[in-house]
Amino acid sequence: MAFNKRVKIKTILEQNLIGQEITLMGWVRTKRSNKNVSFIALNDGSIITNYQVVADPNVISEEVLKKCSTGACLKITGTVVASQGSGQSSELNAKSIEILGEADPEKYPLQPKKHSLEFLREIAHLRMRTNTFGAVFRVRHALAFAVHKYFNDKGFFYIHTPIITASDAEGAGETFKVTTLDLNKLPRTEEGKIDFKEDFFERETNLTVSGQLEGELAAMALSEIYTFGPTFRAENSNTTRHLAEFWMIEPEMAFYDAEDNQDLAEDFLKYIIRYALENCAEDLKFLDQRAQEEENTKPADQRAELGLIDKLKFVVENDFVRLTYTEAIDILRNSNHNKKKKFQYLIESWGADLQSEHERYLVEKHFKKPVILTDYPKDIKAFYMRQNEDGKTVAAMDILFPGIGEIVGGSQREERLDRLTQRMQEMHIPEAELWWYLDTRRFGATPHAGFGLGFERMVQFVTGMGNIRDVIAFPRTPGNAEF
Ligand code: 4AD
Ligand code: MG
Repeated sequence: MAFNKRVKIKTILEQNLIGQEITLMGWVRTKRSNKNVSFIALNDGSIITNYQVVADPNVISEEVLKKCSTGACLKITGTVVASQGSGQSSELNAKSIEILGEADPEKYPLQPKKHSLEFLREIAHLRMRTNTFGAVFRVRHALAFAVHKYFNDKGFFYIHTPIITASDAEGAGETFKVTTLDLNKLPRTEEGKIDFKEDFFERETNLTVSGQLEGELAAMALSEIYTFGPTFRAENSNTTRHLAEFWMIEPEMAFYDAEDNQDLAEDFLKYIIRYALENCAEDLKFLDQRAQEEENTKPADQRAELGLIDKLKFVVENDFVRLTYTEAIDILRNSNHNKKKKFQYLIESWGADLQSEHERYLVEKHFKKPVILTDYPKDIKAFYMRQNEDGKTVAAMDILFPGIGEIVGGSQREERLDRLTQRMQEMHIPEAELWWYLDTRRFGATPHAGFGLGFERMVQFVTGMGNIRDVIAFPRTPGNAEF
């Protein structure tokens, strides 16, 4: 039988195959034996549920059964029969078992017991074989698929923007350099600076922090586009919300103003959460229980009010709150939290940058809903955001989620050439380097807007995982690039 003729566990559970002879392949989660029979719980990753295989020692040799230990990979042919025990409706009566790959029980690091997430991070090459990580990565897939489905169904085009660039779109100076120069023998100019003319691209380059600037160019031709790719930031932030390599979804739309942008973002976020609720019910049920157990270890007054699934439904069913930065500062400044000096960074005056403690106060304590914060001071935002008539603020929007803080950052873009170049001068961004970006303001400019969704933060929100390192297969953070 060819390998690809195997039946997935998901298929057996969804279709009635009783009486049929089939072949299963997967990894052993547990084995229980007595002298009359062995029960093997097999998992092939297609679904969270393990499938029970019954092996009679008169049919399967003792030598083979011994090798069916936790972690081993098996090919099992047998007949699907109605299950005797409770739980599953059917099980597989094994006729033959082939050991595809043994797993020495003395050495296999994953035992059938609860391992800490910290320990599992150290064996990230194996952790997808646990229920938790299987669930997380199936949900992650569903969310990625939902992103493409949402935009495709709306007539947006998927643009692949470059990963190597010469620009720093966000202007935060947190880029990783890309070079083929010999770091031990750097070529120098006459002034003693590194001579990037000698480098591969004959200029200084870095990994992209955002596909937005190129996305804007595409929107000026195709009207509505989105990017979905990896982005890189050398932020030295060791938090549960930051990665050095993360995936971002960036739609960019011609003929949208700030309000259209907010409407799209809210609709999009609700759509992908609803998609997960409808398509990942079993995994979310498991993750909900897992999150509940974790909540129960916290002091009663710090526990979340809603369970995971109820929280997701709540977000889908309720309008997001929309308010301006100025209104938010008033709320924060007058809050008891601020007066009692419970914030690490006290809010004293208009213009202060919001820290995640402030964002979370607004969302978790004050409104208890997702919040779209708009019209931030221009001095704490990127150069490309459209300047408001007050001369002080820009048409920015950040979307804040409970338990996460900022999940989306976006804005209407400055389409007026004179305003844009004036802002670039103020922020010391050389026009010569962004001549191509400025050309869209010279030729056929139009109001347009867009935003960026941090994909891992969304996966965190939907799976209830507390640490961003646990929602990407192989996380990149300061000091970590194993696997
Ligand atoms: O707010 P940011 O920096 O916005 C941009 O990059 C814009 N160019 C987006 C746009 O308008 N097209 O980043 C967008 C989102 C954040 O809201 C956050 O969810 C996520 O990206 N993000 C990170 N996620 C994980 N690790 C990091 N280090 C992140 N930095 C930003
Ligand atoms: Mg931001």
